[in-house]
Amino acid sequence: MHVKQIDAEQTLILRHQVLWPEFPIAAVKLPQDENGWHFGAFVEAPPAMNDPIAVISLFLDPIPIDNTLANSEQNKTTHLPIPVPSTAAAVRFRKFACKESMQGQGVGTALLNYTMNFAHSHLNAHVFWCDARVSSMQWYKKRGLAQFGNRFFKGAVEYVRMKKDLSAIGPWFLTKAVFLSVHAQSAIIVFMDL
Ligand SMILES: CC(C)(COP(=O)(O)OP(=O)(O)OC[C@H]1O[C@@H](n2cnc3c(N)ncnc32)[C@H](O)[C@@H]1OP(=O)(O)O)[C@@H](O)C(=O)NCCC(=O)NCCS
Repeated sequence: MHVKQIDAEQTLILRHQVLWPEFPIAAVKLPQDENGWHFGAFVEAPPAMNDPIAVISLFLDPIPIDNTLANSEQNKTTHLPIPVPSTAAAVRFRKFACKESMQGQGVGTALLNYTMNFAHSHLNAHVFWCDARVSSMQWYKKRGLAQFGNRFFKGAVEYVRMKKDLSAIGPWFLTKAVFLSVHAQSAIIVFMDL
């Protein structure tokens, strides 16, 4: 498997199939798409080697001010929360989807790691965040992301915000690297050419 940068158009089929199949495909296009970085994971062998098996998109987007305090006990004291300024070096990932038949084999983990590395080394990101489906919250937690803010809904789907501080990433993570992801069903080698 390898990961490469792709056009926004190439993400649309998986975005639609995996995330929002009940809506028209036009609904999964984002107005911000042309200002983002899009990545796909691909298998090496035909016949499907030109179709991504997983996709993700990155955008420069300030982290929302943590709204945890808004409904908490602390808000009932006389000390109102001080707004935390947003940082310019925040990268948001969106529309992360792995083809259903390829899920659970390490592809998503490899793609997330690749793009986190890209965000840190190429976009100078210090924080990597997303609106996560609550159904995937444990998946993200296992990969080092922490929940912040309150839960909310987009349509019928419940979300929570999650983030990872990238300033702690060491140089070992940033070198050109080949890493191996071993799962029950497969061993995936990801070539990182950053
Ligand atoms: C989330 C997603 C991108 C992960 O990709 P993936 O290739 O399936 O993930 P991986 O194979 O790398 O991870 C497999 C591991 O996650 C676990 N897992 C899979 N889905 C999970 C979930 N919803 N919650 C918790 N763990 C989950 C597997 O049991 C496996 O565990 P292990 O690491 O202990 O073996 C993919 O499952 C997907 O597209 N889901 C539907 C769309 C979605 O929810 N996207 C995220 C929107 S915020």
